[in-house]
Amino acid sequence: MYTRVEITPEQRQKQLAFCAMIRERISFRPHYALVDTYGCQQNESDSELLRGWLAECGYLPTADEALADVIAVNTCAVREHAEQRVFGNVGALTHIRAKNPDLIVCVGGCMAQQETVKDRIRSSFRQVDLVFGPHEVWKFPELLWQTMERHGRRGNKGRLIAAEPSDGVIAEGLPRRRDSQLKAWLSIMNGCNNFCTYCIVPYVRGRERSRRPEDIVAECAALVEAGYKDITLLGQNVNSYGRGLSEEVDFPDLLRRLNALPGDFILRFMTSHPKDATEKLFKAMAECEKCAHQLHLPAQSGSSRVLKAMNRHYDRETYMQKAALARAYMPDLVLTTDIIVGFPGETEEEFAETLSLVEELRYDSMFTFLYSPRPGTPAAALPDPASRAEKQRRFDRLVAAANRISAEKHAAYVGSVQRVLVDGETGDKTRNLSARTRGGRLVHLAGDPALVGQFVNVTVTASSTWTLFGTLC
Ligand code: 5AD
Ligand code: SF4
Repeated sequence: MYTRVEITPEQRQKQLAFCAMIRERISFRPHYALVDTYGCQQNESDSELLRGWLAECGYLPTADEALADVIAVNTCAVREHAEQRVFGNVGALTHIRAKNPDLIVCVGGCMAQQETVKDRIRSSFRQVDLVFGPHEVWKFPELLWQTMERHGRRGNKGRLIAAEPSDGVIAEGLPRRRDSQLKAWLSIMNGCNNFCTYCIVPYVRGRERSRRPEDIVAECAALVEAGYKDITLLGQNVNSYGRGLSEEVDFPDLLRRLNALPGDFILRFMTSHPKDATEKLFKAMAECEKCAHQLHLPAQSGSSRVLKAMNRHYDRETYMQKAALARAYMPDLVLTTDIIVGFPGETEEEFAETLSLVEELRYDSMFTFLYSPRPGTPAAALPDPASRAEKQRRFDRLVAAANRISAEKHAAYVGSVQRVLVDGETGDKTRNLSARTRGGRLVHLAGDPALVGQFVNVTVTASSTWTLFGTLC
């Protein structure tokens, strides 16, 4: 049984004291820090906290590895490919470290939480000074200080391998350096209790725990006050928000409370587990005028047999019914999904069921992944007779279908008028601005850069697989 652990104000104060000590220690010249992020939005959000701590410790941000005094790599463990990239890039830091022996290299995030990864860093990555897990972001200053104290000692004594096993904590009030002044991540919960058989997340991000609604509402209000216009609520499964809190509150309730805040802004959220997506949620989305009509509902497979083997707790029919119900509440709903191709034992017929699900539901866009065995997960131990080449063929067929459907769905926008939030510049001369529709579709248009941060109406004049093209009304 998981007990909800909150970091106390005293524990937070202690971290601020470490920040002051580090500031003092590095005050003799400007120091620079670089945070490199892999993986999901939750990791992006954690990196904002790391940048917040580093700023509090007196470091200036830099994108230049050669200038950096601290490099923190925030890693992702969801697929092997991401892990290989991290090992490759951390390996390449050997040269930078050779030139700057005072450099502190930190490896954090989901990979760091795995014993196998810690062992590999111990034996083969001498240039890494600190290893810490997602559960330790709240005490990064203390870990950094301890690492500084050890720096220069011989062998493993000269570094700190933390990333202790943990079910996870809730930490409020940490400093944060946001990447954007317009779009914000708002983490409403952490961890995952679902244990889908392919997924490493529940092992590395700990048990599901929700922030208190009043803390979330206060953070959202502060974001709106500061001018943020596009706020994405984050959780591994936002639909189980509220479990374990003393107050009885669920995700649709939270949406309504946030929607009631004054101001012109958009509320998005991800990710929704289909097993917990309810009519109450769709009704709240339809009725909350600030809530984007955008639903990321990872199906993972269109075969009920595979879904059972994945431990997803829904079958093809239930999934289709939920998607149809969501569309009945919101006819303009932008529906997106994640699909895994080549789960162990997936047959050609079962893959065909995934393909037909995609053809029937016609997603606006999809994230498609080749199954990647994660050591320690139940699926990694299943027999997997399909060859890599066969899986790749299935993957290519699915991507072709997904792209065709996306292009068709985008083409249907042509001629319509959309209210969009202009969110940046493209670097392109003809269509210099980028924007998002309420449903999250990307729009390129020509206009005054002063429009960035404003809602405007555009007529969609053309489209491609990924982008809508428009002109200001
Ligand atoms: N292999 C391939 N894809 C995976 N995902 C999660 N674990 C794996 C894995 N072992 C995908 C799922 C999930 C998305 C974030 O990553 O589709 O929804
Ligand atoms: Fe992984 Fe499943 Fe949790 Fe998503 S819901 S993070 S796929 S275990």
